Amino acid sequence: MLPHLPQTAIDAILAGGWIREVQWYPEVDSTNLAARRAVNSTGLQYSPLPKLFVADRQTAGRGRLQRQWWSPEGCLMLTLAVSDQSLLGRPEEWSQLALISGLAVANTVAQFVDSQEVQLKWPNDVFVSGKKIAGILIESDAKVWLIGIGLNVCMNWNAAPVEVASKATCISTACARSIDATVVLVELMEELQRTLEGWRSGDLDWQSAWRQRCLLTGRVVHVRVSEHREIVGVCEGIDAQGRLILRDENDVQLLSTGEVLAYS
Ligand code: BTN
Repeated sequence: MLPHLPQTAIDAILAGGWIREVQWYPEVDSTNLAARRAVNSTGLQYSPLPKLFVADRQTAGRGRLQRQWWSPEGCLMLTLAVSDQSLLGRPEEWSQLALISGLAVANTVAQFVDSQEVQLKWPNDVFVSGKKIAGILIESDAKVWLIGIGLNVCMNWNAAPVEVASKATCISTACARSIDATVVLVELMEELQRTLEGWRSGDLDWQSAWRQRCLLTGRVVHVRVSEHREIVGVCEGIDAQGRLILRDENDVQLLSTGEVLAYS
């Protein structure tokens, strides 16, 4: 749990010198919304970045595709606000930000559970033993990129909505011991810095690391690419741009965005 973010954890996060500010909330609607408000009210884009927004609970946690994110204590919920000039690479690479962030989360989770079990579901979900453990919501506002991460650390599954409980897991469940969310948070910030800075400097190692953890490779995957278009094919991983490679009997499709509806 993250009942209160201890000062020691804030100090550890700031000590690295990368994160410039930490804003902690016992409860907030959504850390992504809090960061967006900071853009509009206090000119977050002119503040020292990256800035971390982290909450014990969210009352209106948001997922991709307008979904809700179940946000009780025990889930690590944060938004990292980064400037597009100081951190991110060329504009055409921005779509890779979700993949890179997912990789950093996966590498963090792998420090606590059996690393072989940690997989990435394109574009930006993290799975352990076939169940979702983390999701990522990337947004941007006034040249600030908001990397929203929900990572299940130590959940009370008895309180979970049925559809969440059957499909999700958390670090404590996966490693069968209680895990301190503040320890995970500090590790995650270090991993994000390493992964984002490596990617920004042109290091291509992220691609093979991502492919090694790709959940969909070799499976028949059904993807909705737009409101009226769905594609089914065998997944051959991701290409150098992070696009999903799907092969059907006629063709190879490279998908930049989409929603995976099913895989087998
Ligand atoms: C998804 O899997 O659909 C993405 C979920 C992202 C949830 C995180 S929790 C912290 C941040 N604040 C939000 O409202 N959403 C993201």
